[in-house]
Amino acid sequence: MKHFKVEKTKKFAKTKVKFVTCVHESTKRKEKDFARRAGSPMEPTSNPFGMMARPFLKWAGGKRRLLPELLARAPKHFVRYHEPFLGGGALFFALRPERASLADAGEELVNTFQVVQSQVEPLLSLLRLHQSNHSPSHFYATRGEKSAAPLQQAARMIYLNKTCFNGLFRLNAAGQFNVAMGQQPSPEIVQADRLRACAQALQGAEIACQDFRLLRAQKGDFVYFDPPYDGGYTGYTPQGFTSEDQADLAALALKLHGEGVQVLLSNADTPYVRSLYREGPFRVEQVRAPRSISCCGSGRKPAKEILITNTQGPFQKPQAPTLFDGVKEGVNEKHQNFYHVKV
Ligand SMILES: C[S@@+](CC[C@H](N)C(=O)[O-])C[C@H]1O[C@@H](n2cnc3c(N)ncnc32)[C@H](O)[C@@H]1O
Repeated sequence: MKHFKVEKTKKFAKTKVKFVTCVHESTKRKEKDFARRAGSPMEPTSNPFGMMARPFLKWAGGKRRLLPELLARAPKHFVRYHEPFLGGGALFFALRPERASLADAGEELVNTFQVVQSQVEPLLSLLRLHQSNHSPSHFYATRGEKSAAPLQQAARMIYLNKTCFNGLFRLNAAGQFNVAMGQQPSPEIVQADRLRACAQALQGAEIACQDFRLLRAQKGDFVYFDPPYDGGYTGYTPQGFTSEDQADLAALALKLHGEGVQVLLSNADTPYVRSLYREGPFRVEQVRAPRSISCCGSGRKPAKEILITNTQGPFQKPQAPTLFDGVKEGVNEKHQNFYHVKV
């Protein structure tokens, strides 16, 4: 049963405005249970709407803006969800599947997800320290010294991600993070509610640092491939992402299709990518979405992207609170279902 509480009232000039906040009691209970299991007392939540798992890192190539298109093509049912190019995990957090295998070749990124999954409260304590020390000298000192300890390394990554220029994670040839400090006057470094919600969403997930070629999926599973785009930014790892990698990915997608796995893949709409999927069993559709981060300095123009899929969407609205809670469903002129997601 839903309970609604009046949280506060405020006076604006002559008009008295009531702010009514909806608090779902079962959501609050889940938050408390989770905090108890994580071994910490729950501190007062600053988010009156309760848990909302969504990416906790700003990530180059992050797919939040493409979510409506992805959700419309995700399958209704699947056994296990796989995201082998995890990045910020936008689709994972939107679907919030019970069973998931998440992977990425970026060691620091994977470590950070693992720490969020298993040590969210100690992580929040370290982030609070970064928050109170935040200054140009603290930023550059933190950037210059990478700890070997997983917890410290994860806190450093989140701190740098929240405070660096444009939130762009970029490694130099030596594999070092070398982005300058950004100009945000008061960056939100701690984000306790969001990190706790992400930790909870990650409880049923296996998280590995590995190359996409090591993916193991079975009949009935759903795989979302979001590789570095052909002709786009590929500097996530020192190895980059080559044309051969793109060709290996296309071969893997074809193999998975033959094994009864449901596949959704996003990439840039280039002649090369189209040539890789032309002969196969896949539907290839162009979509346009504003890029979240421009790595070429040419602004945030809509980019031509393609979605390559053998799935039958749309996905069904799950019970747990997710990004779907900000979603409106509809039908477009081709009589296909679609979702609007607030981003
Ligand atoms: C476009 S981003 C994924 C963005 C993600 N879907 C999101 O919503 O934030 C591509 C990711 O692929 C990872 N990557 C690059 N080369 C890889 C490889 N060979 N195997 C697995 N992951 C790789 C990068 O570290 C990066 O996080």
